[in-house]
Amino acid sequence: MGADILMTSSKLSDGKYERKLLEPLGARLIIADCKNEEDVIDAGKEAFGLIVTVTPIGEKVFNALPNLKIVARTGIGVDNIDLETARKHGVTICNVPDYCLNEVADHAMALLLATERKIVQQHMKVISGKWEGVKGVKPIYGLQERVLGLIGFGGIGRLMVPRAKAFGLKVIAYDPYVDQSVMDDLGVLSVTLNELLKNSDYVSLHAPLTDETRHVIDSNALKMMKPTAFLINTARGSLIDRVALKTALADGRIAGAAMDVIEDNLEGAQSFSQMPNVIFTSYMAYYTEKSLDLLRKTPAEEIARFLKGKPVKNRVV
Ligand SMILES: NC(=O)c1ccc[n+]([C@@H]2O[C@H](COP(=O)([O-])OP(=O)(O)OC[C@H]3O[C@@H](n4cnc5c(N)ncnc54)[C@H](O)[C@@H]3O)[C@@H](O)[C@H]2O)c1
Repeated sequence: MGADILMTSSKLSDGKYERKLLEPLGARLIIADCKNEEDVIDAGKEAFGLIVTVTPIGEKVFNALPNLKIVARTGIGVDNIDLETARKHGVTICNVPDYCLNEVADHAMALLLATERKIVQQHMKVISGKWEGVKGVKPIYGLQERVLGLIGFGGIGRLMVPRAKAFGLKVIAYDPYVDQSVMDDLGVLSVTLNELLKNSDYVSLHAPLTDETRHVIDSNALKMMKPTAFLINTARGSLIDRVALKTALADGRIAGAAMDVIEDNLEGAQSFSQMPNVIFTSYMAYYTEKSLDLLRKTPAEEIARFLKGKPVKNRVV
């Protein structure tokens, strides 16, 4: 029997591409919609490899699957995988680091523009029969010379720069792991987190979810922001303490928020439902037909490389 490869979700792919690539290498693809670690263990007892989207892969899985050698994530963030335990078990973890960078940067700009120009508030008024112009949506300060603060200056953060500058925004960034010269080259001022929070008119999050970044936007951070500032999140919901955000918005401590991701997804979003200064999209910033194609194919290609004894391209662990 060849190597079992378990795909833990059927949402992104029907498995045709994966089978075509992996079966000639002696592998057998299993598809099972796994909500939790127990489901993964049940479906993939003999698994050599996993293709994982959002299913959590933690200690239980690594302890229970003795043949597991590789986990390929269909996405950039690897926060649903326990990397430390993977390391201890000698399991290779890889991701798709480059599949939707322009898409997410576009989406973050779209959210920024929509909050700034009060597009959703206006739309809601118009379809409810109110043609009132700026009444009820003032003030709007405009984008020229105002400041966009980027928390996280990796692939997506950097792609925000030309977009923001095209609208006349100044860009500052906080990323403790990026060399100052990288920011200098793109005309971006490197600042501390506190400086960023105090000086930004828009704070946009582009950092991964780690122990260090969880709730990086908490009540203290929100207190430092300008009362006219907007918060934009296309990274991970848990970068923001959503209860603290709700309080800050209710108290007028910041002007608004626009989010593609939020802690507890729909349930989290619905707790803001009476707030006119909040916009949600439902975790879709990554999507275009082109990006989805790359997202579907890359994990299987990584596992194929691994089965042939070649190094994976996008190793995280
Ligand atoms: N909404 C979506 O559809 C969607 C799609 C893709 C990615 N994402 C999220 O966007 C995040 C960013 O993507 P990317 O491609 O730019 O990732 P990336 O790895 O290229 O960049 C992340 C940057 O964050 C920095 N960083 C790490 N810890 C930090 C900290 N404590 N404070 C500030 N910066 C820190 C890193 O140094 C790195 O430069 C991903 O981790 C993922 O969670 C969301």
